[in-house]
Amino acid sequence: MPGSPVVGEFLSFDDVVVVPGLASVEPSSVDISGRLSAGRRLAVPVASAPMDTVTGWRLAALLARAGAIGVIHRNMSVDEQVAEVRRVKNESPSIWAEIPKAGPGEPLASLEMRLEEAGAGAAVVVDGGVIRGVYLRRGVDAGYWAGKAEALRVLYETVRPEPTLDDYGRLAVAAAVSPFDVGRAKALDEAGVDVLVVDVAHLHNREALHSLARLVREVSAEVVAGNLGTREGVLDTLSIAEGVAGLRVGISSGSICLTGEVAGASVPTLQAVLNARSALEELGLHGRVPIVADGGIRNPGDAAKALIAGASAVMGGRIFAGTEEALAPKVSVGGRLYKPYRGMASRGAMAARYAADRYSKPSKAIEEGVEGLVPYRGSALGVVAEMAAGLQAALGYAGASSVREAWEKGRLARVTASGRAEIRPHDVILG
Ligand code: XMP
Repeated sequence: MPGSPVVGEFLSFDDVVVVPGLASVEPSSVDISGRLSAGRRLAVPVASAPMDTVTGWRLAALLARAGAIGVIHRNMSVDEQVAEVRRVKNESPSIWAEIPKAGPGEPLASLEMRLEEAGAGAAVVVDGGVIRGVYLRRGVDAGYWAGKAEALRVLYETVRPEPTLDDYGRLAVAAAVSPFDVGRAKALDEAGVDVLVVDVAHLHNREALHSLARLVREVSAEVVAGNLGTREGVLDTLSIAEGVAGLRVGISSGSICLTGEVAGASVPTLQAVLNARSALEELGLHGRVPIVADGGIRNPGDAAKALIAGASAVMGGRIFAGTEEALAPKVSVGGRLYKPYRGMASRGAMAARYAADRYSKPSKAIEEGVEGLVPYRGSALGVVAEMAAGLQAALGYAGASSVREAWEKGRLARVTASGRAEIRPHDVILG
């Protein structure tokens, strides 16, 4: 007799809380470093999603300078994507390229002139390697620059930014590929891409996995495979596509995803991490093949839950979509600033892909993503600083001094609906 088709219950970020544990170090000493792939360490374990309103060379360069990484989207020709990778490689790896620094004794006139030339509205004042303050130019709109300077100060107080570099001291960068596009993968590899991130909604497909196996053999860059959601998906991927160096997991949890609605299919990101971990533990590979939690990350709390569940890094689209460095241009609506953000399976993104790349595979006739706007939020450096400080605090609560320790000691507990309501600010009028 066939069993019930209902196989269990899937957990999402809001279903659980981080259980406080005995901490042996202060939050500011917590090592939050993680990995995008087996060989790609990240001081801040965050990657920006390969989406055509989010990651181009500018965001990727900023993230690598700050210790995270960007994944260049693939809604463009091979030559254009190669040029984006090369551009990141040619950028200055120093975080100071993001914002000028000033010595405490520097004459104001010369500082003003330097800032004017750089088109910058602020500088951080550094003395003996310590950020002493922020200089804001008068009569210049320093909003964006002030945010950057503050973010840099927070980064120095928490993780001390440590850029993500390749073996030649250049900024590291990742790029998205389809598992069927071996030609694109080889071109990106030759251009010096550090990590190739496979970018399909449902990798657990025989044809896709066999093609991926070929792709992995043809390139020297590490390959992160995704998206996956189940234990079986991970086991099949690792047995067919030998040499995969990371797993991108989460199905239809993204803020712009429609898959869960139009196809009814989903593995929420937290559950996808738990499933991947269970498969990797079965193979004795957890910790050796990193898990990247992709989709639905709203804040450091979600990221911490993903890490405790077994991930080595998180990937986000929406958290970066509203930033200055994201690809989409700012728009003003009713006096407020926004940036467009769209799913890569939305009508607009799919049309752009077929226009840019005639070899792209028109796999689906329906839209599985939405197009919308997100509030403008200044520099992406602020997002990295918030993630770094928030992850240190969260792992501190969990009683862990590193991500690896969070896997061993960290605990998550389910909360009831009333518990969820109680956790959020309540019974006050928020200003
Ligand atoms: P967040 O929540 O960070 O999610 O905005 C980003 C992730 O969402 C996935 N993605 C999609 N999923 N339809 C989907 O079902 C889409 O059109 C789509 N576009 C992106 C992707 O995994 C991304 O990293």
